[in-house]
Amino acid sequence: MNRDPGKLDLRDSYDEIKYPSLPRKQSHPAFIAALSAIAGLSLPPVDRWRVLEVGCGDGSNILPMAFDYPESRFIGLDRAVNPIEAGRALASRLRLANLELRVADLSEWEPEGEFDYIIAHGVFSWVPKEIREKILRICGASLKPHGIAFISYNVYPGCHFRRLAGDFLRFHVRRLTDPAARIQDARSLAQTVVDQMGGDSSPQHALCDEMKVILEKDAAVLYHDDLAEINEPFYLMDFLAQAARHDLQYLGDALPKRDDVRYLALQTEDWIESRQYSDFLVMRRFRESLLCRRDIALDRKLVFDRFHDLYVASGVKPAEPEQDGRQQFDLPKSGNVTTNNPLAKQILSRLSSLWPQSMRMSDISFEGFSPDSIPDLLMQLHQAGALEFRMHPPKVAPSVSDYPEASALARAQIAEGHRMVTNQRHINIDFQDETIRKVVSLLDGSRNRQELARDLVTAGLDPETIHKTVEYALSGLHRLNLLTA
Ligand SMILES: C[S@@+](CC[C@H](N)C(=O)[O-])C[C@H]1O[C@@H](n2cnc3c(N)ncnc32)[C@H](O)[C@@H]1O
Repeated sequence: MNRDPGKLDLRDSYDEIKYPSLPRKQSHPAFIAALSAIAGLSLPPVDRWRVLEVGCGDGSNILPMAFDYPESRFIGLDRAVNPIEAGRALASRLRLANLELRVADLSEWEPEGEFDYIIAHGVFSWVPKEIREKILRICGASLKPHGIAFISYNVYPGCHFRRLAGDFLRFHVRRLTDPAARIQDARSLAQTVVDQMGGDSSPQHALCDEMKVILEKDAAVLYHDDLAEINEPFYLMDFLAQAARHDLQYLGDALPKRDDVRYLALQTEDWIESRQYSDFLVMRRFRESLLCRRDIALDRKLVFDRFHDLYVASGVKPAEPEQDGRQQFDLPKSGNVTTNNPLAKQILSRLSSLWPQSMRMSDISFEGFSPDSIPDLLMQLHQAGALEFRMHPPKVAPSVSDYPEASALARAQIAEGHRMVTNQRHINIDFQDETIRKVVSLLDGSRNRQELARDLVTAGLDPETIHKTVEYALSGLHRLNLLTA
């Protein structure tokens, strides 16, 4: 399609329309380090990590990591000025001395030194080829011997439909330069397609489904993702071929999914090829791949010993066991897993009773279970979203203490006027409710419940219901991983 990129000054688009960046728990070094350990890689000492994030936006992802690991060094860079300045304001409120947020263009920037972790989230598919090459070159040249790169990108075949919808929308708004007008007209086209073709069982159905996805999107995401002139998906095998040219190899994905190819009567012996088959099968649209240096000999067998030093947690909610022995566990976000495997039931029940605390794997008793079957079961539960492995446990309070304290990060985010606050598990919580924002702001560990209630009433809360409000808020904040130890 003949587009006219000259009409838009894309260099400044992220300054003009703010991208709603988020922390991505799967890109957190504690999370990646756990997967590296499972893959048998040696790990860097925690107090000397160097972490780089390219295209970091306002630092929503890298800043909480720097907050979590004060002894490690973090560099985030982005060419957009406004997001970097917003990140710096929060960093300076928190007096973070181990985070550097730089305004720099990847086309000119060269890293100093090597890194244990390099992160590029939401960047690779949205930049020109030479910047993609530069990102891979930086990873290939600047990862320490055991270092891991996290790169997310759009993938085929799922993105064929997404591209179709995107091409249609960009064609429709091709004469508009004003971002708000582009967003508005794109949405109105998507709505028209949905309204006029929604019930049709013709081939337009796929297009219509894409337009429904478009209509759900945040305006800034629509503008920067689907209306962007560059939005390049890749087949997994093609992405890995590009990476291999920079001496990088595939470790796996940061949020591994069960390889669905096992349902097909196909010979897919090759570990990587089977993932490509799987992408076709599930029409995958997005990947968050982990790369390491090509000279590392990977042994993809799951070995129980490699789990030994990890911490594991589970936010599932168990239902009553059924008569036939099966038990359902509701997953933290949505969906559930049902199992009659005695070990799975035992682990999930135990961990869910401890949530939000973690357990060291070496403290869990696996007596009576064959060690050969355990690692595969653990990975299955991890892939289902029922277990979470980390190299270090998040600093969460075991219970609501007499002088409860919310994380200094969450309090600083509220003071900066953010609607979202980042919890101790590197996940954003949307706090639209003014009451809960007030509660969090006061939770600096200096007040007991009575003093908290008194100060909240002074701040305008209803004295009649204040004690109920405080109890409710504290137990909610505890479960949301916002209270610190
Ligand atoms: C879609 S946003 C993603 C931001 C963030 N990583 C996230 O996932 O929320 C892409 C980011 O890459 C930055 N970017 C694009 N091209 C760049 C370049 N050549 N050098 C530095 N940053 C760049 C943009 O300014 C923008 O902040």
